Formats: sequence, C-alpha cells, structure tokens
Amino acid sequence: MKSPKLVEVDKSKKHIYWPTPDMKERAWAGTDKIYKDAAKDPKAFWAKLAQDGLDWETPWKKVYEEKPPYFKWFLGGKLNASYNCLDRHLKERGNKAAIIWEPESPNEKPRVLTYKQLHREVCQFANALKKLGIQKGDRVGIYLPMIPEVIVSMLACARIGAIHSVVFSAFSGESFRTRVDDCKAKVVITCDGYSRRGKPIELKKQADLASSAKSVKKAVIVKRLGNNVDMMDGRDVWYHELIAEAKAECKAQPMEANSTLFLLYTSGTTGKPKGVIHDTGGYLTQAYWTTLFDFDLHDNDVYWCTADIGWITGHTYACYGPLSVGATMVVYEGGPDYPDWGRFWSIVEKFGVSVFYTAPTAIRMFKKMGDKWIKKHDISSIRLLGTVGEPIDNEAWYWYFKTIGGGKAPVIDTWWQTETGGTLITALPGIGPFIPTVAGRPFPGTIAEILDDMGKPVKKGETGYLVFKPPFPPGLLRGVWNNSKKYRDTYWSEYGNKTYFTADGAKWHDKHNIRVTGRVDDVMKVAGHRLSSAEVEDALNSHPAIIESAVVPKPDEIRGQVPVAFIVLKRDIEPSEDLQKGIVSAVKKEIGPTAKPHQIIFVKGLPKTRSGKIMRRFLKSILVNEKLGDATTLQNPAIVDYLKEVVGYKKK
Ligand code: WTA
Repeated sequence: MKSPKLVEVDKSKKHIYWPTPDMKERAWAGTDKIYKDAAKDPKAFWAKLAQDGLDWETPWKKVYEEKPPYFKWFLGGKLNASYNCLDRHLKERGNKAAIIWEPESPNEKPRVLTYKQLHREVCQFANALKKLGIQKGDRVGIYLPMIPEVIVSMLACARIGAIHSVVFSAFSGESFRTRVDDCKAKVVITCDGYSRRGKPIELKKQADLASSAKSVKKAVIVKRLGNNVDMMDGRDVWYHELIAEAKAECKAQPMEANSTLFLLYTSGTTGKPKGVIHDTGGYLTQAYWTTLFDFDLHDNDVYWCTADIGWITGHTYACYGPLSVGATMVVYEGGPDYPDWGRFWSIVEKFGVSVFYTAPTAIRMFKKMGDKWIKKHDISSIRLLGTVGEPIDNEAWYWYFKTIGGGKAPVIDTWWQTETGGTLITALPGIGPFIPTVAGRPFPGTIAEILDDMGKPVKKGETGYLVFKPPFPPGLLRGVWNNSKKYRDTYWSEYGNKTYFTADGAKWHDKHNIRVTGRVDDVMKVAGHRLSSAEVEDALNSHPAIIESAVVPKPDEIRGQVPVAFIVLKRDIEPSEDLQKGIVSAVKKEIGPTAKPHQIIFVKGLPKTRSGKIMRRFLKSILVNEKLGDATTLQNPAIVDYLKEVVGYKKK
C-alpha cells in the first residue's frame, strides 16, 4: 500500500520539517503536551507508562529509589519479559505474524512465525534449557546469526529467568570465549554454520573455543548450514532434537523488576569489553514505549530494523520492543549487497515494509551505489524512517528522506547507547520537528543537560558533554557485570555520582533540540559498530613483532570512521607486506573482521606524556591535517615532527 504524505516543510525555515495533520492524528504522541506533563513529574509519568504498557504479575511497592550511583525502578514489582512479548498477545494476535524471516539466499523460502508459533517454540526451548540444568539467574551465551532461533533463544532464557549474553556472530570465537568466561555461562547456543554472501562460515568451529570454557556444561547447536560438525559427546546437543522432545507449555517465571534480563558486552576505553547489565522492568518499559512512540507502530505496520541482534539495537528494536508491542517484524539473515545492492529494497517491496530503521553507514553506502538499485523496486509502502548509531550528515539525511522516503516520511534520528537500553534523544513522528543532523529532544520523562568542563550548562551553540540527570531513564544500565569499579569510573565519576556521563559531545540547536557531535573518549564507530582503541591495541600488541601500538579513528566517507594503527616494531624487525597481513589477521582472530585496521603505519615511536600515556589525539590530528595542540607537555616533543613527515601532514 502506498503511504500518504506525512511531513511538510516549514514555511519560513526550509531546512525544517513538521508532521502533517495526518501524521499528528495517527501518532501515539501527537502534541508536545506530553513533554510538559512528563516534566512535571517524571516518576509518575514512567509509572503510568509501565502500568499501561506492560503486564505485571505483582504490582510494585515503590516507583523509584536512588542509592547513587545505583538506582531502581518499580521495586518489588514482578513481571516476565517473554510473557510480555508473547503470551499476552495470543488472544488477539495469536495468528498475526511476529517474525517474517528472510533467508540470505533468494532461492530459499521465507519463514513466518506467528505469535502462537513463536510462543510454542520459545516454551519448548525454555523447557529444554531447564532440562539442561539452566536455572533462574544462570548465564547463557548466544552466538548465532540472524535466524529465528536467536530470538527464540533470548526469549526462552527470559522465560525462565536465565540471563542471556548475545555475542555478534561476526566476532571471533576468541571474543565469544572472553565474554563466556567473564560471565561464566553454563550453556552456549550456536549453529553448525551459516552462509554470508554465499560463502559458508563454520560458526561451530569458532564457538568450540568458548564451549570448552570451564563453566560451560552444554552447547546447543542449531542446524542451519548443514555442514559437517564434530559433536562432542556429553556436551554438544542438537537444537532440533531438544525441541522435538520438549513440552509446548512452560510457565513464565515472574521476575522482580530489577533483576537482570541480559548482559551485553560493549567496548569502553580499556582493552576488555564490559558486560553492561540491563534489568527487566525498567528496560522493558523503555523498550515498549520508545518503540511505539518513535516508530509509531500500529497493527497493520510491517516493521524492519536492519541491525544485527548482536548489538543493542538488535536487542531492543529487533526483539524486545517490537514483540512487546505485538508488531510484525522482518528479520533478514544476510548482507545488504547479496546477491546485489537491490536486496534491501526487494525485501521492502516483497513484504510491504512500512517502517524502516537502519544506520547512517548503510545509508551512505546505498547512496554511493546509485539510485538504480532502488528504482527497480516499489518501496512506496515506507511511511517512516529511522536512523541510529552515529551522527548523520546533511547529505545522507536528505538522500534518505528523498530517495527512500519519497519526501513523505519523517526521518527519526535516534540517539542512544548500549548503556541506555532504548532511544533517549529523538524527534517524535507526530510532534517533530525533523531537522537534518539534529537528533531532537530528550524522550519525555528524561532530563538531558549539556555541561562544560566545570560542570556548568553550556550556552546555546556551544559544544559540551551530554549527561542525564535523575530520575534516570528506566532503561539505563544497572551495572557492569562483576565490575562495580568500572561502572562507577566510566559513567559516574566525571560529574559525580548523580550525573550519568554519556561520553558524547553535544550542543543545543534551539531550546529543546540537541545535535550530538560524537564520542569524546577513545571509542570509535566503524560502520556503526562500536569499537575501542584499546581493544584493537590489545589485539595488536599480542603479535610477536610488535612492541606497542596506538589505534585512532580516521574519518571515512562510507564507514563514518575507520581504525588506523600506528605500530612500533621490535628491534631488528623490518616492515613487510607479509608482516602487515599477519598483523591484520591477528586482529581478525582476536576480535573479528570489523576491527581490522584500515591502514597500518609503522613508526619508530609514539607521542607520550611524561607519565608514559600514549597521546592518541596527536595522531588523530596528524591524520586529518588538523591543527595540533601543545606538544611541549610530551615526553618526546620531537616525535611530532617525525610523525607528521611519515604521515605526510600538510600544514594548512
Ligand atoms: C553514537 C548504539 C549521533 C554515540 C545505539 C553513542 C549517535 C554511541 C546516534 C553508542 C545518533 C548513536 N546520533 N550519534 N543518532 N546514535 N550514536 O553503544 O556516539 O553501539 O555514544 O549504541 O553511538 O553506540 P552503541
């Protein structure tokens, strides 16, 4: 179905767009009264949302409590996330499609799972997990591509109160192992293999590195590719065999609102990724309402979030959010360019996708590939567009708006983080305004500020640090697994333990709307994927030829940023092409292909402070020909001229 025109340009400011009366009329939130009401009493606002949006087994006793830097929502309330995503829809939406799964090969048939079918399989797998010895509070590591079983696995864990930790299937087996070790997972779930751009990927071989961890008792293997795999007696079991013998009823375990729903490991400023803890009640409240409000979902929508489930966007907007609101969502297994660059649009056409959510890096890539791929398909069903993951530039915004949205669909630029669980800054489709490069307003009931170095609010137009003030958003992380120090140091030390520090720079575009400028720490966004300098450096430094290294982001037209590695080799080791290749494959093995350095620059030294800390910002500036800061504080100021020469720095 062709969608109507839902946005119009501002009469006097041509770069600003507003929802049409039609859009306002149909939206869940259609006037900015919602912001004012929420601001009067944010706790009462969220309490009402939690009550209206979710099914609770036991009501909460207290709405909110703070013991800085910890806080809780809906204390004493009990609910189950899997119940909220499945059981409660069965009566009215039992036969509605929950998942429309599109396999990578266009020759293979899509698979549709109705809410009833998904419920059945989740119950069966939850029973199977119990049989394997999984109990409430146990951790389960999930390492699967975009197949329905990954969602079944997550919901099955949630159903019995087990904590899932999903690891991106394109990460290496070593990465999976590190995460499984950190959270001491008892069971891991993976598959034999899958196909990526037509090439077989033998995932079980990678997963075996983690399955052999001491904590792991059982490994469940989904059959997907049909390749030969070695099944270890007593440890490895087939998913389909477990399902075949499992009962189809499994009561959902009521969980206290503040109990952990899942862990998701993410990159910080140190080499070791941290296990971000998300709770059940607060997280689900934010997932539910942001999905409804941001994407304005109604029962006849077909929604598609293209993020991989291994990232937070996949967790919240390709699983918990859409399923908790009872939506129909598309899940696609493969790459955007397989078999050609028209694949996404053929999927939009085939299923009549009306709401489409993707990342700026994908948008820039499609733009570069040319409009011919889009013109081959009828994508007029699209009526709302979303973007996430990094700042979107003006050109990409307009291209997305005009070419994909046909100039009639609002573009919702959502700012958020793994840590915030759900979106926090965005324009709402029924309220607007939609302004290219401006994310929008803090979600109703949340309090954002932009502070200077001294902790004072910045003036309009000045850049500062984006923070959130109490009451903290219900979906915000509740801790770092096994590492309360990291939790305090990373998020609650910059401005004290009552201010959540995002590590993003931002400025006020006007009184209400925020433009996010990007990370202020050593975290990069490479093709939308979050990666830390230290993590890549750790992988590099494990190479026998390397003494030390520094990894910094370099701007890239398509990928946003790409990692560039400055490497100091051991004495007597000469740089060579083979060595470069070896170094790149070491990073691939340790982390995965996403972390691969785009460029390797061999140097004889790195800029350091007197205390020996590597000053990555000098390297960053040299790479982009930017004015350099004061080098006199360096232990080795002469290194700067040397590095400029190596890189070919041209003074402007
Ligand atoms: C960046 C992704 C500008 C930001 C959900 C943040 C954005 C980091 C936007 C978190 C946006 C995300 N505009 N920047 N709309 N969305 N970011 O944890 O720097 O993978 O801190 O979560 O992405 O990345 P993460």
